[in-house]
Amino acid sequence: MAAGDNDSAVVVDAICERLRASRRLLFITGAGISADSGLPTYRGIGGLYEEQETDDGLPIEVALSGEMFSEEPRITWKYIAQIERACRDASFNDAHRVIREMERDFDVCVLTQNVDGFHQHAGSSRVIAMHGDLHTLWCIRCGAIEQVPDYADLAMPPRCIRCNAIVRPRVVLFNEALPRHEVLAWHEAWNQGFDMVFTVGTSSLFPYIAEPVMAAAGQGIATVEINPGTTQVSSLVQHRLRGGAAHWLRRLWDAYHAGAGQAPRSRDA
Ligand code: OAD
Repeated sequence: MAAGDNDSAVVVDAICERLRASRRLLFITGAGISADSGLPTYRGIGGLYEEQETDDGLPIEVALSGEMFSEEPRITWKYIAQIERACRDASFNDAHRVIREMERDFDVCVLTQNVDGFHQHAGSSRVIAMHGDLHTLWCIRCGAIEQVPDYADLAMPPRCIRCNAIVRPRVVLFNEALPRHEVLAWHEAWNQGFDMVFTVGTSSLFPYIAEPVMAAAGQGIATVEINPGTTQVSSLVQHRLRGGAAHWLRRLWDAYHAGAGQAPRSRDA
């Protein structure tokens, strides 16, 4: 047994005990959950925003901003297409799979910042994609919406199938507001309440991502962070598992099943 495994086993047991008394779970996820699929994160070593400037001499936050899309959509599309290219060669991983499997025993809600669609592809039924999805194209001139499996057959920049205007992906660009539908869905989900809140693979830099964890911790709701690094919420959570999302979620789920007979759990908790 490696150093630290004993401590981790205690944390895993404590989380499983809480799971047995829980019904509604919230998973807040970020780029780190897809790192186990080989996608780069936004920040950290090898992260997309670690480079000072893009090929076009612009910070990536400028290239991927709402203003740039209005003025020079070709530039924004170039970098969106690079992100999509990375997603196309990848697929959801065991972390996404475990979250979907948990629906057998729990009411699971996923609040994700990821635009890769992996939670949806893994089969999670309740996903609030706060930053949108790359695979939905939207014409801001005529309102047409098109779902695409990938961008392989798209001319760049892609045009509307109905009115031929340049379309945009339905994702939140820098300096843009969050999508109203997702915000409303999130408020509704939060108001229904959760028994446990997991934050997985996110640096929690955005207030709407950190605040639910802070609120849960303040209300005595069990909080768990899975992340190899330290984040804005690390000091607030009740349980921390340091490491990759796929490894820890599978280990937790296996431990939960292995000890399933240990204590009766109440679905009416
Ligand atoms: P970040 O890139 O900011 O953070 C990724 C987090 O994942 C870091 O805390 C890493 O330590 C952690 N991590 C790395 N590998 C991991 C692994 N194998 N398992 C678990 N965690 C791992 O990504 P987000 O927090 O998702 O927004 O960033 C949010 C937003 O930043 C993006 O949605 C994007 C960007 O600005 C927009 O484009 C609007």
